[in-house]
Amino acid sequence: MPNEIIYTNNSVLIFDSENELINNLTTKILGIVTAALAKNGICSIALSGGSTPKLLYSNLVAHPEARLIPWQNVYFFLGDERCVSNDSIESNAKMINQTLLSNNLIPKENFFTTKYQDENPEKAAKFYADQIKTFFNLSNNDFPKFDLVLLGLGPDGHTASLFPDSQALQESHNLFVANYIEKFNATRLTLTYPVINNADYQIFVVTGKSKTDILPEVIFRGKELKYPAANVSNNHNQNIIWYTDTLAAANFKSIKSTEEI
Ligand code: 6PG
Repeated sequence: MPNEIIYTNNSVLIFDSENELINNLTTKILGIVTAALAKNGICSIALSGGSTPKLLYSNLVAHPEARLIPWQNVYFFLGDERCVSNDSIESNAKMINQTLLSNNLIPKENFFTTKYQDENPEKAAKFYADQIKTFFNLSNNDFPKFDLVLLGLGPDGHTASLFPDSQALQESHNLFVANYIEKFNATRLTLTYPVINNADYQIFVVTGKSKTDILPEVIFRGKELKYPAANVSNNHNQNIIWYTDTLAAANFKSIKSTEEI
């Protein structure tokens, strides 16, 4: 069983191994999907990119209970995407197709990928935002309510493609935007805070020693240090859930209670 630390609106689950984390999170996600389908007949999930979730996505569709899910009613979106072709090694869509959609349990048409991102990022962002609006049947000032947004954490405290000091951090109206990242001298596409924060669940997956320094800083000093991941919140008074392992949480003080922090 994981250790759990509650700090402000964060519920941090610390697992002894990545395998234990993935098995536990797989069960959690299948539970969220099952509950959403029972309540609404449909489920929508925004997926994290990067390398951390690869094993999770492969495990999710290989799990025996996954065969019981009517995946034709479960729809997947990108939390963010790089401005490369969908068959580039850097593409999040490619990574998701090679993991989550690898065994054809999930219909390929249920995964919404971006278009035009390698030619015209602004056009790609608007096209994808329009796809989200159509899927959720939104009027102009509404925000979608995903059942789940899965998120990663970069060593600089970014999440999705909301990077420190980038323009998209201020976005309060558009759903999905092109965001120039100075340190990469490149543009990425990303969901914005109004969309991420309006989901039923926001679950971060943060593992490994490369996150040992950033994870406690985001959890305990994130707002003070202006890390983008620390500005993820939940509009429905639920906690943000962090699935981490002992490597990523190695610098957490041996905390017996939040008063000691
Ligand atoms: C991406 C992301 C990004 C990622 C973090 C962590 O497109 O890369 O969505 O926010 O989650 O950078 O990446 P790793 O999982 O590779 O450490």
